[in-house]
Amino acid sequence: MRQSEPGGGGLGEGVLTPVVDRAALLADAGLARDGAGRLRLDGVDLETLAGAVGTPVFVYGAAVIRRQYRAFDEALAGVPHRVHFAVKANGNLAVLALLRSLGAGADIVSAGELARCLAAGFPADRIVFSGVGKTGAELEAAAAAGLASINVESVEELDALGAVAERLGREVRVGIRFNPDVTTDTHPYISTGKYGIKFGVPADQAAEAIAVLARRPGLRLVTLAVHVGSQILDASPFRAGAARLVELLSQVRTAGIETVRSLDLGGGVGIRYGGELPLSPAAYAEAIVPVLAPAGLEVHLEPGRFLVGNAGVLLARVLYRKHSGGKDFLVLDAGMTELGRPSRYGAYHDIVPVAPPRGAETPFDVVGPVCETGDFLALERPLPDGIAPGHLLAILGAGAYGFVMGSTYNARPRPPEVLVDGGRWGLARRRETAEELMTGEDPDPVMTA
Ligand code: LLP
Repeated sequence: MRQSEPGGGGLGEGVLTPVVDRAALLADAGLARDGAGRLRLDGVDLETLAGAVGTPVFVYGAAVIRRQYRAFDEALAGVPHRVHFAVKANGNLAVLALLRSLGAGADIVSAGELARCLAAGFPADRIVFSGVGKTGAELEAAAAAGLASINVESVEELDALGAVAERLGREVRVGIRFNPDVTTDTHPYISTGKYGIKFGVPADQAAEAIAVLARRPGLRLVTLAVHVGSQILDASPFRAGAARLVELLSQVRTAGIETVRSLDLGGGVGIRYGGELPLSPAAYAEAIVPVLAPAGLEVHLEPGRFLVGNAGVLLARVLYRKHSGGKDFLVLDAGMTELGRPSRYGAYHDIVPVAPPRGAETPFDVVGPVCETGDFLALERPLPDGIAPGHLLAILGAGAYGFVMGSTYNARPRPPEVLVDGGRWGLARRRETAEELMTGEDPDPVMTA
């Protein structure tokens, strides 16, 4: 058993006792089998789509993204709020444009994500910029663009931004992301709210941050932010994070700062990958709104995974079925380069055949073509014994931290991304070519002394 079992709240593979709620997972993803037993996403036959575009391919369901956004937004209707989509989860322009059209703002962590958001039509004042290592150039570009807020993660960065504001001769809206010192039951690599990790200003440096604000007149403190972690399935860390924000607000107000307009609780709401029981948006809102609302400020949130995670599937074909060392392997045309979460975190992603499944279930190691033993999508995964070369598999939960975390290792061009909407589909990003992978390279570089 790796990490923890699905249902236990972790990201683990849960190879021995998966308690996978397949029916709920298909519903979460907007997937259904047609009369012939073939898998469709929002009416689109996935076998036909894969035939047209080739594999591997990421497919995103617009209806699921809409459903998730609206559920989240409506749960918070009782309090003035803004939902800033965490672009790191999925930066495809069509996904961004869809979320923007629904009323979302954006939470970014780099100049690259800023460029994407502006290209997708987000107004600058709907964009918040988080991130622990913004460069001087990024701070300058963000300050010049007039973002809703630049959320700094250290006293040093706050001071550097103050200098940028003075140089540009303009007031810059700033937020302070504090480390809430909240412990969460999630994978250690994505647990971001504990004391002693790199994220956020530790609460014991709040006074220093306030001192910097006092001597940097170009900075206007408009928000206080925390992010307690990711793939959280239980309300208590959010409640604790919200309480920490309210404490910090009173500290800031006591110091005479009256400019804060919003409290930003970050992202982190988890989804079902296997048998988890995710928090409903209503339960999430019930946990945080009573804590935050008395402050009388706007509530800002930065969900990523919740909005897009279940909306995406990765379609891959079986290249070979082989037997080795007493095990059965399915070698796919996708692996760690397309979906890195299984090999990186031991994460569980459910896998379902697109054609009607045939045969009793038998355990397979589902692996990719990359030259790494760690290149797997699932280990000892029970799958129908009838799966054969050429068959198409859908890997679920690939809409968040999928394509964006991919790599071109082994000179593998990145796969296309398709948006499905209302029974139709469109290519939101075409497949990269081998030539494009060599763009900017020179086999015979001009040498300089
Ligand atoms: N806001 C901030 C400041 C964050 O650091 C993050 C995620 C989010 C919002 C969005 O969190 P979400 O709602 O998606 O949980 N690659 C990992 C996840 C890393 C998340 C890092 N920060 C994974 O594949 O699980």
